[in-house]
Amino acid sequence: MRDFNEQNATEAVLARLDGCPDARLKEVMTSVVRHLHAVVREVEPSPDEWLAAIRFLTRTGQICDERRQEFILLSDTLGVSMLVDAIHHREPAGCTESTVLGPFHVEGAAEIPHGGNLCRDGKGAPTVVAGRVLDPGGAPIAGAALDVWQTNGEGFYDTQQPDLQPEMNLRGKLTTDAKGRFWFRTIRPVSYPIPTDGPVGQLLDRLGRHPYRPAHIHFIVSAPGFESVTTHLFVEGDPYLDSDAVFGVKESLIVPFVRNESAADAERLGVATPFYQVEHDFRLKRAASQAVA
Ligand code: BEZ
Ligand code: FE
Repeated sequence: MRDFNEQNATEAVLARLDGCPDARLKEVMTSVVRHLHAVVREVEPSPDEWLAAIRFLTRTGQICDERRQEFILLSDTLGVSMLVDAIHHREPAGCTESTVLGPFHVEGAAEIPHGGNLCRDGKGAPTVVAGRVLDPGGAPIAGAALDVWQTNGEGFYDTQQPDLQPEMNLRGKLTTDAKGRFWFRTIRPVSYPIPTDGPVGQLLDRLGRHPYRPAHIHFIVSAPGFESVTTHLFVEGDPYLDSDAVFGVKESLIVPFVRNESAADAERLGVATPFYQVEHDFRLKRAASQAVA
C-alpha cells in the first residue's frame, strides 16, 4: 500500500486488520477505525487541534492512580458508561434497575450487623435505611449481600479525604435475614461535584456543563442464583436529578428520605432527632442459568 490519501485512508487501515486472529478484536477495531476516521473527516481537525486532543488523553492517563480513575470519569460524563450499562442490563420490568458504578467503590468494606452504622465519624444528618431483597416474584431472598457506599455530608468519599475521614467511612456490607430484610444507619447523602481538578473537569467547564451528581447511596446487591445489580438510591427532591453529570438517574431509583422528629422512634432506632428514614426493596433478576422458561 502506497499513496495513502484522504479517499483510501479508511479502507487501507481496515485491510491491515485482515490477518487479526481474534474475531472479536477485529470486529471492535474495524468499528473503532471506521468511526474515528469518520470523526476526523467530519471535524477536519488542524494538526494543532489533534495534538490538543492527544494531550488531553495523555493528561487523563497521567492523573490516574490507584485512587483516581479519570478515564472512568470521562466515560461517565460522555454517557458511555450508562450506554454500556443500558445495553447489558435490559432488566425485566419490576427488577431493580442498574446504574453507574463510578470510580469510588472500594473492595473489602467491613460486614456490619443489622442496625449497624456506616458512619464512623458521627458527622451528618442521621438516616435509617431499611428494606428487603426480593426475587422477581416478590419472595424474600435470605442471605443476599449488600455492599453500600456513599459520600459524607459534605459530598466527599473517604478516599478523597484520607486525612480528614476515617478509613472506610460510610462503607459497609450487610446480609439479609431469613425474611430478606436489612437495615442500617448512616447519614443523609448530599449532591456533590465529580472531581473537577483534572482534565475531565476542565472539559466540562469548557463545555458549559456543571459537574454535580444528585445525592445518592450506592449499592451492589447480590445473591447466589441471581444477577447482581449495581445501583443507587437517589434522594427525592434533589435539584440535580434532571441534570446528573453522569446520566445515572432512573425514576425507579428515586426514593423519599422522610424526616422523622419522633423521640420514641429515634430512641428505638438508636439515632438522634431529627432523622431521615428510607424504605426500599431491591428485586433481583434470576441468573440466566436459573431463569424459569
Ligand atoms: C459516583 O457516584 O461515585 C460517581 C459516578 C460517576 C462519576 C463520578 C462519581
Ligand atoms: Fe457517588
